[in-house]
Amino acid sequence: MTTARVPLVEMRDMQKAFGGIRAVDHVTIDLYPGEVVGVLGHNGAGKSVLMKMLSGAIQRDGGEIFINGSRAEITNPRDARKYNLETIYQTLALADNLDAASNLFLGRELVTPFGFVDDSTMEAETRKIMARLNPNFRRFSEPVSALSGGQRQSVAIARAVYFNARILIMDEPTAALGPYETQTVMELIDELRRQGIGIFLIDHDIHQVKVMCDRAHVMKNGQLVGTVKVADVTEDDLLAMIIAGKKPEHMAA
Ligand SMILES: Nc1ncnc2c1ncn2[C@@H]1O[C@H](COP(=O)(O)OP(=O)(O)O)[C@@H](O)[C@H]1O
Ligand SMILES: [Mg+2]
Repeated sequence: MTTARVPLVEMRDMQKAFGGIRAVDHVTIDLYPGEVVGVLGHNGAGKSVLMKMLSGAIQRDGGEIFINGSRAEITNPRDARKYNLETIYQTLALADNLDAASNLFLGRELVTPFGFVDDSTMEAETRKIMARLNPNFRRFSEPVSALSGGQRQSVAIARAVYFNARILIMDEPTAALGPYETQTVMELIDELRRQGIGIFLIDHDIHQVKVMCDRAHVMKNGQLVGTVKVADVTEDDLLAMIIAGKKPEHMAA
């Protein structure tokens, strides 16, 4: 990181209050292409609200968003898509009774020149992208309700990637998963990073953050405690930042 690269995302001085609660209190963070950046903090720290202001799901009270160096107008989720920004929620927005391909193209179906829904092309495209992201996936003709949590995550991730996501927000993507499934999702995240996608990863699991993330933004009570390179800190340092709300001694500047 020697050249002055332009951040994929920069959120400056972001603010949001609910009644008397300052959910996000003057927070400035960034994200570079091909980077996985952890967003850490206790329950109620403001992580989700901050990310929802980026995805357009929550209107901000103040602050500015820059995408690739230009000011971005994001006031609803539709705007966010124009900037190739997609969110993957813990509670996945998949249609349970539909198969992987139908979910991948939900609301953006491919049609034949005669205007019919083009099931075979959608399935072929789904097989292509899954081969790239999760080659073990075989359950193309089953409703996604029959899939495991990790497989469902991979369908949601495939959907984002197929529609050219450059920026991904993942809110606790492994919270509901077992160890094997978690591994699958972590490998997916790594693959997305290699493709140059920038990822904000909200995660409770400090060990996972240590393994997955390049940097971490730590929040407490709506404020930014600090931003660290994960390689420069221990898991205990990260925990101390979350709990005490202070940067480790050797990094306090
Ligand atoms: N829609 C809402 N209405 C009122 N208060 C909210 C809303 N969303 C979040 N909050 C409050 O904002 C603060 C930050 O919440 P959140 O960003 O969800 O925390 P977390 O870091 O756990 O994701 C909390 O005090 C929460 O109760
Ligand atoms: Mg949250």
